[in-house]
Amino acid sequence: MDFGYPHFNTMEGERISPTAQFNSPALSDELNKIRADAALREIPVSDGETLNFLKTIVTALKPKKILELGTAVGLSAAVMAGAFEGAKITTVERDENFAAEARKNFKNLNIYSKIDLIEGDAADVIKGLCDPFDFIFLDCAKVQYIKYLPDLIRLLNKGGVLLADDVLLFGYVAGETEVPKKRRALVGHIREYIAAATSSPQLQTTVLNIGNGLAMSVKL
Ligand SMILES: C[S@@+](CC[C@H](N)C(=O)[O-])C[C@H]1O[C@@H](n2cnc3c(N)ncnc32)[C@H](O)[C@@H]1O
Repeated sequence: MDFGYPHFNTMEGERISPTAQFNSPALSDELNKIRADAALREIPVSDGETLNFLKTIVTALKPKKILELGTAVGLSAAVMAGAFEGAKITTVERDENFAAEARKNFKNLNIYSKIDLIEGDAADVIKGLCDPFDFIFLDCAKVQYIKYLPDLIRLLNKGGVLLADDVLLFGYVAGETEVPKKRRALVGHIREYIAAATSSPQLQTTVLNIGNGLAMSVKL
């Protein structure tokens, strides 16, 4: 499929921003292996530019408590754990096979004690969480982002950062690319999320053209 944009690759899901060429993450051999294996098996993990941004922002902010929604096989959690030694990460995954594989990866990477992997649906899990976080990486069911937002604001410390992945969704959300019928509902939900995050009096939000689009919100 040709999207007619130079920064779009030919496959849906491989939207490449113009800056991606400069923003490859420097990863350990072990992490590169996990990344390559995920790509081979078509496991949805964050693209290189997003991983690089995650690494940069976690290095800068040094968040002591991180919440991630959407673990997959643990690549982004491992990148965050490596970016700040003092971080404790809670990550949520509903797929039991991915969760088992992520646990195995955390053990092999010697970061198991820093990461609490909760198996379950993100909507249920976040309802049961009370202690606040300094940084939240939102990377699971995109259609639910808008539903999660009130709980994520509740769970964020003042000055804490909420980073939502994939908010530009192959160019559909910003109107760069015509939205196929099967994506219309999803695009509508993401637009609602962006509208809520950018207009919330509790948040200061910027949408960044990084990877597949990141919405970065700071709690006021
Ligand atoms: C894009 S992947 C996460 C990639 C990971 N953050 C990384 O970059 O390495 C999204 C993950 O969210 C999980 N997921 C989807 N819906 C979920 C839900 N409602 N609750 C918990 N996990 C969910 C999927 O099983 C999938 O593993």
